[in-house]
Amino acid sequence: MKDVQNYIQENKNRFIQELIDLLKIPSISADKNYEKQVLQTADQVLIALEKAGCDKVEMCETPGYPIVYGEKTIDTSLPTVLVYGHYDVQPADPLDLWDSPAFEPVIKNTKTHPEGAIFARGACDDKGQMYMHVKAFEYMIASDTLPCNVKFMIEGEEEVGSPSLEWYVKNNREKLANDVILISDTGMISNQQPSITTGLRGLSYVEVEVTGPNRDLHSGLYGGAVANPINILTKMIASLHDENQHITIPGFYNGVEELSREERDEMAKAPFSLQAYQDALDIESVYGEEGYTTNERNSIRPTLDVNGIWGGYTGEGAKTVIPSKAFAKISMRLVPGQNPDAITNLFIEHFESIAPKGVHVSAKPHHGGLPYVTPIDNIGYQAANKAYSKTFGVPAIPQRSGGSIPIVALFEQELASKSILMGFGLDSDAIHSPNEHFGIFNYLKGIETIPYFYKYYSELAK
Ligand code: BES
Ligand code: MN
Ligand code: MN
Repeated sequence: MKDVQNYIQENKNRFIQELIDLLKIPSISADKNYEKQVLQTADQVLIALEKAGCDKVEMCETPGYPIVYGEKTIDTSLPTVLVYGHYDVQPADPLDLWDSPAFEPVIKNTKTHPEGAIFARGACDDKGQMYMHVKAFEYMIASDTLPCNVKFMIEGEEEVGSPSLEWYVKNNREKLANDVILISDTGMISNQQPSITTGLRGLSYVEVEVTGPNRDLHSGLYGGAVANPINILTKMIASLHDENQHITIPGFYNGVEELSREERDEMAKAPFSLQAYQDALDIESVYGEEGYTTNERNSIRPTLDVNGIWGGYTGEGAKTVIPSKAFAKISMRLVPGQNPDAITNLFIEHFESIAPKGVHVSAKPHHGGLPYVTPIDNIGYQAANKAYSKTFGVPAIPQRSGGSIPIVALFEQELASKSILMGFGLDSDAIHSPNEHFGIFNYLKGIETIPYFYKYYSELAK
């Protein structure tokens, strides 16, 4: 398979251009105003899969956005790899913080990406990473080196909690039958040190509303005499962590799997510079749960964060008012041993119980998801590790990530197969943030590494 590098060299401008064309379409699943563009992106992905060599492609309608399906069967006695990715992206807000428009991709060099990076919403999460699979597949078809069967399942609702995918997977178990699931929607340690994601956190997400008086009031006439919902809400939120940054919701940590000293020592071997971490974020110090390192806090420990908070007067100048209502969106990242529905209930029960007299609290659960951990003693992990060793010259390090891809746990439940998370993004690629980007090196390295996964997996499966 020596000529995968040649193939990439010969075609890299086209590979980059095709990704840029995909990135130009604002496929924002959270915003109904972009419905047409989300659907247009699905069409484009379908065409790309067909062109790359799928012998069957299908636009699978769902109650929400369609799932793009493609397959290439070469021999039913050979293993089947199911590739999952998503073609939808996060909203680009706040728009004024982008150095160039989010949907007008440009290539710029950065310190981390001296060979250039494509700047656009979705460049890394997940259009760029998803498209690596389409191009790696194209190479294997063109060079007649595809060693097994492939199925593609590319969804358009990942960024809104995959509401249709569960339904789709449950209703298409046969069609989606596979030996291993391959996903590039995570990251790696650095361009010199690849890693394989062995864990994802779960998620519980709740929106709360605190209501005080039945209308906004003059803060002079009523101030001091009635509860101010914003004062109350912020006080309630502040009480959710103690002075050690431990979460105070009763029962929150019940069942949380604690790692052994050995496992934590093993984790601590991954290269990490606290100074570089702080410098990259312009912070003087990290902050978090007592007794855990930064990498533990952001992967093996559960968290609670306010994602947004609003209420009252936020316009220009000063308006003297006691607002009638205050709101917040609160997410909890979960680890193995925690169940999202149970945590959501615990949260709501606790939050209602700490509300003082004089306000009314209501809470509305949003999408959630189960955490995931996978062992490394399986041929999927081994094949991925061999593939990284081949193309990076060093083996990959297993690493649990703090992010969530809730459907991964569902795949294991419904399809009884493991997901191998071969991510090629970097934490500094600013996914979900302004100026998201994806390194050209990472994009091309992904396209180069993926065919080796297929090769080694097929060999190990014999
Ligand atoms: N690709 C990310 C998840 C991710 C990124 C995992 C980097 C590990 C490393 C995915 O698109 C995402 O953003 N997931 C959401 C959850 C979803 C339910 C909206 C998240 O983690 O916030
Ligand atoms: Mn993603
Ligand atoms: Mn995302």
